[in-house]
Amino acid sequence: MPKFYLTTPLYYVNARPHVGHTYSTIVADTITRYKRMMGYEVCFLTGTDEHGEHVGRAARVAGRDPQSFVDEIAQDYKRVWDRLGLRYDQFIRTTEPRHKAAVWKIFRAVQQAGYIYEGTYVGQYCVNCELYVTDPTPEGNCPNCGRPPESVEEENYFFRLSAFQEPLLEHYRKHPEFIQPEARRNEVEAFVRGGLRDLSISRTRFRWGIPVPEAADHVFYVWFDALTGYISGIGYGNPDAEASTFNRFWPADLQLVGKEIVRFHAVYWPAFLLAAGLPLPKTIYAHGWWLFQQDKMSKSRGNIVRPEPIAEVMGVDALRYFLLREMVFGQDANFSYDALVARYNSDLANDYGNLASRVLTMITRYFDGEIPPHDFSDRPAKTDDELLKALREASVIDHAEEAVKGFREAFDEYDFASGLRAVGNLIREINQYLVETEPWKLAEASSNRSRLATILWTAAEGLRIATALLHPVIPEGTERIWQQLGQEGPLAKYSLSRLAWGQLAAGSRIGKPEPIYPRVEKDTAIQRMVELEANLGQSAVGASKGGKPVSNNPSVISMEEFAKVDMRVAEVRAAERVPGADKLLKLRVDIGGEERQIVAGIAEVYSPQQLVGKKIVVVVNLQPRKIRGIESQGMLVAATVGEAGKPVIATFTEDVPAGARLK
Ligand code: ME8
Ligand code: MG
Repeated sequence: MPKFYLTTPLYYVNARPHVGHTYSTIVADTITRYKRMMGYEVCFLTGTDEHGEHVGRAARVAGRDPQSFVDEIAQDYKRVWDRLGLRYDQFIRTTEPRHKAAVWKIFRAVQQAGYIYEGTYVGQYCVNCELYVTDPTPEGNCPNCGRPPESVEEENYFFRLSAFQEPLLEHYRKHPEFIQPEARRNEVEAFVRGGLRDLSISRTRFRWGIPVPEAADHVFYVWFDALTGYISGIGYGNPDAEASTFNRFWPADLQLVGKEIVRFHAVYWPAFLLAAGLPLPKTIYAHGWWLFQQDKMSKSRGNIVRPEPIAEVMGVDALRYFLLREMVFGQDANFSYDALVARYNSDLANDYGNLASRVLTMITRYFDGEIPPHDFSDRPAKTDDELLKALREASVIDHAEEAVKGFREAFDEYDFASGLRAVGNLIREINQYLVETEPWKLAEASSNRSRLATILWTAAEGLRIATALLHPVIPEGTERIWQQLGQEGPLAKYSLSRLAWGQLAAGSRIGKPEPIYPRVEKDTAIQRMVELEANLGQSAVGASKGGKPVSNNPSVISMEEFAKVDMRVAEVRAAERVPGADKLLKLRVDIGGEERQIVAGIAEVYSPQQLVGKKIVVVVNLQPRKIRGIESQGMLVAATVGEAGKPVIATFTEDVPAGARLK
């Protein structure tokens, strides 16, 4: 049996999963199901990236010890994946002992090969991206997230990354499939061609990490630690599992990553592996971002949408279908509840669900629940190919064959949207076929039973094919339709490589038809999702996205609407006047593990020095806006007093941690 090993990134446990993280996992889950149906033995690994400064700070801000903090969020990830029916084979947490064993093992291998030395690191570091900033933006910021990096100077262990510039370039040349899509490959190649500096792989400024074997005051750089998760999770560094799993599955066939972490995966990771003498993964595939309100959906931007409310209101299949159908794999796409519901109603409810219920209901009614035989003998010249092509059935057959071929070709290249379009064409064709042939009229007239049988067989056969193809994407509904069609065994076990037109056996009994994808009323569905989202907290659904007020009095808002406003305690880290604007101060505030830049019209009343260290209140989920050309990533809350509208900052009488939510 051919093998297929695929991975998602290991998610940071500084926050609970949102739709962006869910996307990577859904893509991997879909590929897993698809490859299994194509006859592969698949291993799908996911997990959590739990060490490092970024996560350590998040724990501190939450006022928690790091271990219990990461335990809780890792559990959240598992719980959400479970709720969404996402089935991985391996879940690696980087705080597990088996992982530490693997990190030590790869470190020793790299060290013995002569690629480790001790030195002093002086430079810039972005804690948000856990990235040594060697190529800052013109403003001196992190090239990844645009935040200002921190200056660091430390005694470190270094990895001789510079030695791998040529070997990496050669690998990219020989294996054009190594980095995909092409735009990303070009980007990475240009970066490597620009020269690689050695990489510090240990840290002494904090403790939350895996200690370096011979130097307990050092912990490993979080990316050296986390990337190793792709092999520790399948047994590397653990003698028994190494033989049984690692040797069988490594190298990975596919490593899915978001486009912001390509450099780590396509430069650092293969360099570590080459240094350790391990084979390289076959493909690093970078997908784009889900944007929400024009910006990358992310916790730090405060514009996240959580998957559970969508699953609750619309079903898991609706979420999966939308994410795979709507995003061109590799590019960015906009998330909106509106588009989600529209997609569901048109493709799943109207087209597919409706087809299933029509076909199954007619077979139940007209053939007593038994798949009818098909028979072209009431047509002239059934052996004559030319004439057969002219039959209405021939077009359905063409569409079915096209769907099987088109779907497989597209899915083999991870082009999910095109694969789904091919099946969509088949489904619409069958619906159209039924409209044109009007089997219900034939049934009424009860004149031509064999023609009626042929039409319903043809429609049912098309439905069977669409259902088998759609299974990796919408596993719940297709499994039920498969059973209703009277097909044997779980659909997941059906072999997609033998799927072809003409296999539906007459005489088999179908199950009781039940509606699978009922149409939903858009406004109601959106309102329910927005409410559930607000109740989950920690997220920010834009006020513009549905959620009609419950009261008719426009000045009265519901609890849910209020809950959309995310106000946080923020600690002022730095403040300065905005040149040429008498009223404005530019503040850097800590809102709990992350910094924001806020522009506020308070300079006439407050001096910059007066504010540093103060705990203030900031609305953190407002769309960022530019004030005098400076971006304000939130709004400071203040009272306006008197005729002149003098601002008075809201603050606290007791000590509160930065990041605490106001409600
Ligand atoms: O980067 N749209 O973890 P992470 C699409 N721990 N995908 C998104 C997304 C969005 N808006 N937001 C996040 C890390 N993702 C590291 C990885 S691997 C050894 C270590 C997806 O939690 C995207 O795939 O910040 C991204 O790469 C992944 O979530 C992990 O994000
Ligand atoms: Mg990230």
